[in-house]
Amino acid sequence: MEAPAIQTLQKLATQLDSLSIGEALQLLADTYPGKTTFSTSFSFEDQVITHDILHNSIPVKIFTLDTGRLFAETFSVWSSTNSRYQTNIKAYYPDQSAIEVFVEATGPNSFYESVDNRKSCCHIRKVEPLKRALAGNAVWITGLRAEHSSARQDLPSVEWDAVNQVIKYHPILRWTTEQVRDYIDQYNIPYNPLHDRGFVSIGCAPCTRAIKAGEDFRAGRWWWEDNSKKECGLHEKTTLVK
Ligand code: ADX
Ligand code: SF4
Repeated sequence: MEAPAIQTLQKLATQLDSLSIGEALQLLADTYPGKTTFSTSFSFEDQVITHDILHNSIPVKIFTLDTGRLFAETFSVWSSTNSRYQTNIKAYYPDQSAIEVFVEATGPNSFYESVDNRKSCCHIRKVEPLKRALAGNAVWITGLRAEHSSARQDLPSVEWDAVNQVIKYHPILRWTTEQVRDYIDQYNIPYNPLHDRGFVSIGCAPCTRAIKAGEDFRAGRWWWEDNSKKECGLHEKTTLVK
């Protein structure tokens, strides 16, 4: 879609910030019917949002990016989520020939060898499929949380994503870990068992490890790289609105 006027986005942010998650998602679905979509990685955060959407039958689409390198536990929670809510979450996959060419040229684990390889792998397995998943939509909902990294501390709840040409909305941006856990317990929502084994932020298996008490929440992601490089490209280059 075309970039909305800054005032339109600011008004939307003010409205959304005064509502519960369910009400906010319903408002977006009503404003942009058929064009509001949520990306899930089946993390704790994403499961809260999935529950709100599916339990309340809010007409927001849900998709995941199956990179081909996810943990077995992530597939289990995907499957239990489908059963619990009687749904079939849609998956987007990497372009077949792009991944074949890349893996043949660099090997299956080349992300450990250079930041360039790692970024190419993330581009093929996540960023390009995301572009396809968002095409034609007006709103992209995510489970980003400020506590996860210093780069996310000052994020506004509503942004304009100029790369994908969508409004981005993060309904639980300011929730604490305790709030997320309590919500999961209260509604008995299926969750990734890795969260009980020291995994906080969960991505692909070869690029995610558990963290120790006191470590930064994203210390377990691409742990062999500098902090400044640790984003996979899904959440870059946005314009701050509020
Ligand atoms: S990442 O950029 O480092 O990979 P992170 O794991 O923190 O992102 O997740 C933040 C949000 O990005 C999630 O709440 C979800 O909306 C989206 N996301 C991340 N990975 C995926 C995935 N594999 N499939 C769909 N959405 C994802
Ligand atoms: Fe590839 Fe690792 Fe990025 Fe997953 S997180 S797409 S395996 S580099």
